[in-house]
Amino acid sequence: MTPFIIVAIDGGAASGKSSTARALSERFNLLHVDTGSFYRAISAELLRRKLTPDDLPAICAALPSIRLGTRVNGRTAHMEIDGRPIDAAEIRSQPVNETVARFAPIPELRAALLDYQRGQADVARSHGFRGLVMEGRDIGSKIFPDADLRFFLHADLEERAKRRRNEGLQDKVAERDILDNKRLLESAKGAIMIDSTNLTLEQVVEKISGIVAEKLK
Ligand code: CDP
Ligand code: CDP
Repeated sequence: MTPFIIVAIDGGAASGKSSTARALSERFNLLHVDTGSFYRAISAELLRRKLTPDDLPAICAALPSIRLGTRVNGRTAHMEIDGRPIDAAEIRSQPVNETVARFAPIPELRAALLDYQRGQADVARSHGFRGLVMEGRDIGSKIFPDADLRFFLHADLEERAKRRRNEGLQDKVAERDILDNKRLLESAKGAIMIDSTNLTLEQVVEKISGIVAEKLK
């Protein structure tokens, strides 16, 4: 039997996590799990319920009533909330961009997502994937510290802000970096560091693919 492999990718906003993880998922038949989209989906749901990141007691009261499910589409895991698929445009909207990194540090919210994220390994197994590639801010440090491979993607702030602008998205990359800083530092520890400031996406994917292929030998 081929071994099940877990690849963790962490890094700051627009460091290339999603594009890289998507390419790896195709190349190695891995389930692609974008945990940022989970934090975004829950933030969007809390905003819909008229809550702000400061409404701590109300957020803690609301969390148990948010029912999380997963639908696999192609090679990607999509979160469902109360049986509804999440709206891709809504989770990338400006209100979510501006609040997600302030909702994300709430310990009760992170705790509510912990088992759900670890459970994606079972989702991958039950769908016949060879493994999973999960991206976020704490994958190699908290979710799968024993991952077979742990990568940290870095790119200069200016380059990352430019990437977001090129996508036509309004995003305060620097502000989110500051809010995410503690988790970014922890997830970088002991990870394979890839600096993509001057690399194309294809070059990054080639570099990481070589390391994954070596691991699978
Ligand atoms: O795509 P981008 O890198 O801009 O962000 P994202 O991965 O969609 O994550 C959105 C926000 O969710 C981040 O700025 C973090 O505040 C939070 N997040 C987190 O705290 N832990 C994760 N594992 C993933 C995301
Ligand atoms: O998931 P994350 O926010 O870390 O980044 P992404 O959404 O994968 O990448 C943000 C943008 O940067 C996308 O448009 C990528 O095509 C681009 N990119 C790039 O220009 N060069 C790289 N080495 C990696 C990503």
